[in-house]
Amino acid sequence: MPFLRTLPRAQNAVELLDLPAPPADLEESLSDIARLNLYFGGSRVTRVHLSRLIGDRRRGPVTVLDVGSGGADILVELVRRARRRGQRLRVIAVERDRQILEVARRRTRAYPEISFVQADGLQLPVRAGSVDAAISSLTLHHVEPVAAPRLLAEMAAAARVGFVVNDLMRSRVGYAVVWLATRLFARNRLSRHDGPLSVRRAYTAEEIRALAREAGISRIRIVRHPLCVRLAVVGERR
Ligand SMILES: C[S@@+](CC[C@H](N)C(=O)[O-])C[C@H]1O[C@@H](n2cnc3c(N)ncnc32)[C@H](O)[C@@H]1O
Repeated sequence: MPFLRTLPRAQNAVELLDLPAPPADLEESLSDIARLNLYFGGSRVTRVHLSRLIGDRRRGPVTVLDVGSGGADILVELVRRARRRGQRLRVIAVERDRQILEVARRRTRAYPEISFVQADGLQLPVRAGSVDAAISSLTLHHVEPVAAPRLLAEMAAAARVGFVVNDLMRSRVGYAVVWLATRLFARNRLSRHDGPLSVRRAYTAEEIRALAREAGISRIRIVRHPLCVRLAVVGERR
């Protein structure tokens, strides 16, 4: 059936969020992403896998580095939960886009646990093993296959315990779901353009395994979350 055939990856496609945008558009689009993360469980995917990864370290101070932090809504959720549990959590948010970084800084003034750094995930500004965990959400698909192993290698190197990459799952059904979700729940033209395109840019589990091998990462676990069109890639140091 043609509908079930693999959806080819959209190579070198450009999302509007990756281009300079009027501030009002950017604000609205980041709010759309936050809303979709919340409604469809995207934030939960990161939270659940991160919490499993950190495990019994939860009692002591924990440092998490996020690559491609965007509007930082997921980070705010992590910090709020940590506060409720009395856990000391410090987050380093790495974002390459200065405009997006400024929006996130403004939105997270009440959360001094989060510090922001403008940098590229392909060259993380931290020493190897200097954070407990590295996470990213909806960022891997922004990186083309020639560079994606580098992103995974940087995250794996930065983290003492491991990393969680959360991204969309590329499939025709996923495309249809995200197309519809962005018509129903997104207000901004950037989000409506970028949402479905993000699915077409996303990697399949098999492609991610190949990228990880190229990065020299031998052990990863990939967990599919079809209801929210996401997959989680978990790499754990032993
Ligand atoms: C779709 S947004 C996702 C934001 C947030 N992580 C979330 O899940 O809501 C992707 C973000 O990753 C950033 N990004 C893409 N490639 C990056 C890279 N190589 N290094 C750092 N940030 C990057 C983009 O600027 C954008 O803010």
